[in-house]
Amino acid sequence: MGAAADDGADAVRARLLGSAAGGGVPQWNCACEKCVRARRVGPHRSQDCLVVTGTGERWWLVNASPDIRVQVIAAPELVPGPGRRETPLAGVLLTDAELDHALGLLVLREGSPLAIHATAPVRDALETAFPLRQVLDPYGTTSWHTVQPGKPLRLDERLSATAIPLGSKRPRYAAACPPGPEWVVAYRFEDEVSGGALVYAPCLAAWTEEFDAALAGARWLVVDGTFYREDEMVRATGGGGTASSMGHLPIESSLPRVGGHPGLEVVYTHLNNTNPVLDPASAEYAAVVAGGGRVGSDGLVMEV
Ligand code: MLT
Ligand code: MN
Ligand code: ZN
Repeated sequence: MGAAADDGADAVRARLLGSAAGGGVPQWNCACEKCVRARRVGPHRSQDCLVVTGTGERWWLVNASPDIRVQVIAAPELVPGPGRRETPLAGVLLTDAELDHALGLLVLREGSPLAIHATAPVRDALETAFPLRQVLDPYGTTSWHTVQPGKPLRLDERLSATAIPLGSKRPRYAAACPPGPEWVVAYRFEDEVSGGALVYAPCLAAWTEEFDAALAGARWLVVDGTFYREDEMVRATGGGGTASSMGHLPIESSLPRVGGHPGLEVVYTHLNNTNPVLDPASAEYAAVVAGGGRVGSDGLVMEV
């Protein structure tokens, strides 16, 4: 097990399992032009989450989407065995308690040991407002751990994760839970051997100085691409709020910050079905590429 880590031949790597916001693309009940197009010509996008590893042997799921079963089956690294119930999946880290990032935990109830890591308010939400822990406990083998922002968590011989607090946005179902700064976090995954890093922030309300500092020396940023424009939801549906009011900094505001980090590969994920970048022929897609970013896609592999 140690060989890969010792000789430096291996490296931290990640696979984006899903690149869509809650509901996916197409969304089951949506007849908008983008969902119609995705139904007709593809691509289908599953809901945002990724897996990351330092050694290639044990993988960590970051967010558990409701699509997790098909996402695991589509990922060659996650094939179980040789033991009947052996899986390379060691555990789960959550960036928040949103349903599109937590429902997959229910799907993973078939008895393989899973260590679940989340901040205190996220754990609280999953024990009270949406008591997923109590539902899972009788099925056996999950253990729960509190993530402390700023404190690196060692995941394997060469991989560590540090949470960066991003804000107080609570899921709709958790409106009665107390507010606080750790409802949403990003993770900086660091290769302890090469010093390289990948930052994952699928729910980013504002590009703060603290967030910017967490990108220092990183090779990859997988970031909130829910909306392209601040007023996109209102324009598309005649309802909803602004992107920022929903806790999602639009691409038009984050893209100008990418230039401040030469050498950083920026991948947009958690794409909503209103986002014009879903169409590779759109001017907005071209603007992302011209701005030094890229539109994420299901299955994208990133070497740190
Ligand atoms: C979000 O990302 O804002 C939430 O997942 C919205 C939702 O409940 O689908
Ligand atoms: Mn979401
Ligand atoms: Zn749609």
